[in-house]
Amino acid sequence: MGVSMHEFDVAKQAAAAGCKVVQQYFRDGFVLSNKAQCNLVTDADVASEKAIVEFIKESFPDHSVLGEETYKDDADAEHLWVIDPIDGTNNFAHGLPHFGISVGYYHNGVAQCGVIVNPARDDWYVAAKGQGAFCNDQRVHVSEAEKLSEVLVGVGFYYDRGAMMQNTLDTVKELFEQQIHGIRRFGTASLDLAMVGMGMFGAFFEYELSPWDFAAGRLFVEEAGGKITTCKGDELKLEKSTVLASNGKLHETMLEIVSRRA
Ligand code: IPD
Ligand code: CA
Ligand code: CA
Repeated sequence: MGVSMHEFDVAKQAAAAGCKVVQQYFRDGFVLSNKAQCNLVTDADVASEKAIVEFIKESFPDHSVLGEETYKDDADAEHLWVIDPIDGTNNFAHGLPHFGISVGYYHNGVAQCGVIVNPARDDWYVAAKGQGAFCNDQRVHVSEAEKLSEVLVGVGFYYDRGAMMQNTLDTVKELFEQQIHGIRRFGTASLDLAMVGMGMFGAFFEYELSPWDFAAGRLFVEEAGGKITTCKGDELKLEKSTVLASNGKLHETMLEIVSRRA
């Protein structure tokens, strides 16, 4: 089934509803608490998720929702909306204007459309299955690079401060040894994936992400001509997972490096 214009429109408008809430809290202030050590959450995260889900439920009362904060329906529901109400909460909480709102719609486990918005820049990254990836209405494509020595690579660190962090650092070191142009860690996985789709990153990897981090971004990468798998090269499922995204041409080379510690 292809995505209907209705679902795509709802995804965009739901993301816009979240965006408005998040912009207001960013401007006027928020209340911070700790989910776990180093893993922050604010009242803006919860309010944004509420606004997004209320909008979706008005159009599709029977659809299921898997959100980071409150809504925890099954990932294998026929009609599923996967939501990160603020991706990059750490940036948000420190006043750093690089965070996103991510809304993905899945039918029987297959991504149909995805919307990511960066409220601080008002940049919109949207993709619908079979219809391409667009940034602010311009069609975008992954980079053409064939060698790691021609690209920037994005990386994410999960909140772990033990083995996973060490593995990530070791992999970063190995990537530097491939003479890449540089490593970037921006702290918002959905926007990192958008950067792969835009051709800014040749590749991006992280050793643990949740479905809401990549639900929309994975389609953006694919529709921009790239590839996204686990760090072992397996199909990405809607569950906690390692993630490797690339322009496609660099995927095998990246896999050789990232899979060793995945
Ligand atoms: C986090 C961000 C970060 C990534 C973490 C995610 P959150 O999401 O995407 O870039 O490194 O693994 O959990 O917690 O800010 O929604
Ligand atoms: Ca996230
Ligand atoms: Ca979040």
